[in-house]
Amino acid sequence: MNSSLEGPEVMSQVARDDKALLTTGADYWSTREVPGLGLPSIRVSDGPHGLRVQDDDNPDHLGLGRSLPATCFPPAVTLASSWDPDLIRSVGMALGREARSLGVDVVLGPGIEIKRSPLCGRNFEYYSEDPLLTGRLAAAMVEGLQSQGVGACVKHFACNNQETDRLRVSADVDERSLREIYLRAFELVIRDARPWAVMSSYNRINGVFASENSWLLSDLLREEWNYDGVVISDWGAVHDPVAAVAAGLDLRMPGQPGDPRVREALANGSLGEAAVDRVAERLRLLASRTEDSRQTKPVIDFDAHHQLTRRAAAESAVLLHDERALLPIDPANARSLAVIGELARTPRYQGAGSSAVNPTRVVHALDALQTRIGETTSISFAPGYALDPNEDATPLIEEAVALAESSELVVLFLGLPASYEAEGRDRTTIELPADQVRLAKAVGDVNPRVIVALSNGSAVTTADWRDAVGSIVEFWLTGQAHGDSIADVLLGEVNPSGKLAETVPVRLEDTSSYLDFPGGLGHVRYSEGVHVGYRWFDARRLDVDYPFGHGLSYTTFEYADLEITVHDLADLIALTVSVTLTNTGDRRGAEVVQVYVGDRSGVLQMPEWELRAFSKVHLEAGVSERVELFITRADLEHFHPDAGWVFAGGSMQVSVGSSSRDIRLQATVDVPGQPVEVPLTVWSQLRDWMTYPVVGPALGKLIEERGGIKGRVGDLLSDPVSQDSALIFPLISVTQFPGFPVSAEEAQELLSRS
Ligand code: BGC
Repeated sequence: MNSSLEGPEVMSQVARDDKALLTTGADYWSTREVPGLGLPSIRVSDGPHGLRVQDDDNPDHLGLGRSLPATCFPPAVTLASSWDPDLIRSVGMALGREARSLGVDVVLGPGIEIKRSPLCGRNFEYYSEDPLLTGRLAAAMVEGLQSQGVGACVKHFACNNQETDRLRVSADVDERSLREIYLRAFELVIRDARPWAVMSSYNRINGVFASENSWLLSDLLREEWNYDGVVISDWGAVHDPVAAVAAGLDLRMPGQPGDPRVREALANGSLGEAAVDRVAERLRLLASRTEDSRQTKPVIDFDAHHQLTRRAAAESAVLLHDERALLPIDPANARSLAVIGELARTPRYQGAGSSAVNPTRVVHALDALQTRIGETTSISFAPGYALDPNEDATPLIEEAVALAESSELVVLFLGLPASYEAEGRDRTTIELPADQVRLAKAVGDVNPRVIVALSNGSAVTTADWRDAVGSIVEFWLTGQAHGDSIADVLLGEVNPSGKLAETVPVRLEDTSSYLDFPGGLGHVRYSEGVHVGYRWFDARRLDVDYPFGHGLSYTTFEYADLEITVHDLADLIALTVSVTLTNTGDRRGAEVVQVYVGDRSGVLQMPEWELRAFSKVHLEAGVSERVELFITRADLEHFHPDAGWVFAGGSMQVSVGSSSRDIRLQATVDVPGQPVEVPLTVWSQLRDWMTYPVVGPALGKLIEERGGIKGRVGDLLSDPVSQDSALIFPLISVTQFPGFPVSAEEAQELLSRS
């Protein structure tokens, strides 16, 4: 870059028209090159779990067939189940290398929406129902990508928690829930990994489009969070480009260079030049951050990336259930193996929509099992069901049952066909397709040794058919090494260590957003507040199919010697939690130690407990390790609508366990905090006025000087039974009663003097 061309002087020399053009891309996937400003064209690409680089001659939007081959890594739903930032960082690095080799400067991901409902059609692209877990894992993805000189673009900022009407709907969310749940993951990723770009979402938030929302894009993102990266709109999310730039959006995508509105607004002064100068500065920063990636193109070892995909998916597999100890498969006890399910030969390994990758290769499960144990085990296949729900499954089920009956062991591949979950549409049920449920029960009736391998991008309940089968492994969507990852786990080469990053409900009706998802008439009310996911199920004491954090292993772990150190108020760390973890089984494995903290301070309505720390620990058989987890003061804060982020301290219940419902050790500690100072206004209650420091005594003195409170308010206050009915009056109301000797104006005056 020519440094002599940088700086505000040059900016003023550039024609306004050029500046206006900076605020929109050049085309579908790139920004404008403005040599006079030292701005190269920057190329972006989907994302998030592999590159979808379009053929330049046919730059369509979703045309999967025309994107260049790239490794299809496991989507976020799968990686999140690893609870392993190191693993995710490695995937991010590999993705960054591929991006660089394809000339991509910014990858449009990760997607970090909170899973408000299991029905969201894009849940496969998102991490978790919990903001801390999402934030920590997505930060690792961003670090991995950016370590290769390629920018991450975290999306979709914010509250794109559903697909239904996502281009118009207003997510109506109170500020506390926004801050603690929906914005928290963005805040953590921005604070910890500094992504170079953020994508604003399509939807409105409390009535205002995210791409034109100055509270979101300027007050919060820039001012409060100090964000210096580029904000890119989702594709087609800008309706009023002038309002968008004024609100803090940098880049409208796809490019609309022919739209005159920003140019006209600059010319007539309704948009200040400072706003577009800021856009230019941020784009320049992005260009300098990604400069290296434009210089050199690495040669990709696609085999190594395929092997990484294989490992990542296997290490993310969640062993839900192994009631009959069928796993891992011992080929000696499985001389005849029935592989049942169309998904074994027509795998589902990624979701549909803008994230779809054209993989470099795909391994089918049937092929993988055949290759691995086909020499010693006789493997037979029956499809059992068709992926097209309109096809009659009865003959397929009959054929599969006959095969199951004559086999020693059954591996049954179940899951969601691609048509069930895709960008642009939400699901309406959390059940598997009815034919598959029928098949599972029928196969389970004739063979007690049935292992189910699940492939789905969003939660499916097993409640109705779980007892018919012996084992269930949730593989989610594995990425392109599908069959090998599954075989690695089923055959015991990889010991499953994944944990659910979202609760699997028994019934859809039990979920927190059931009555308000996906809303209607242009609005969706987040009526459950902060009680999303396990926060809801636990507060309501609802049975779940599988709890948040759940995942079994081929080995066992014991937790002992919980020790909690409570740090001083001056320390950024509030708590250090230590436990001794022992692998008590007979094979190497990994456990995710989870710490949940229940805040009993009563300052706000609190969830029962919340995930505040976790650590994935790999241990050889028989080995113990002392595990230390740190919880910062900021991690314990809640958002008070009048006082901002607060942590009042007090009694905290600390629970350490293997899942949110498998708590192994627990203790209650007293943690120092800061008193919550809610600013006093004339709308504060009389009770708060009386007890407020300085102003309270001043008001009391004034009342006394004027002979005390008389009339009805005075009567109520002097009666212990009735006094509450006066104390709950806002000051502005109580002053209207004859006999209350201070006016609202005088109270206001007292306030401003204090
Ligand atoms: C999606 C984004 C994606 C963009 C570009 C939009 O429809 O919501 O996630 O990055 O298209 O393909």
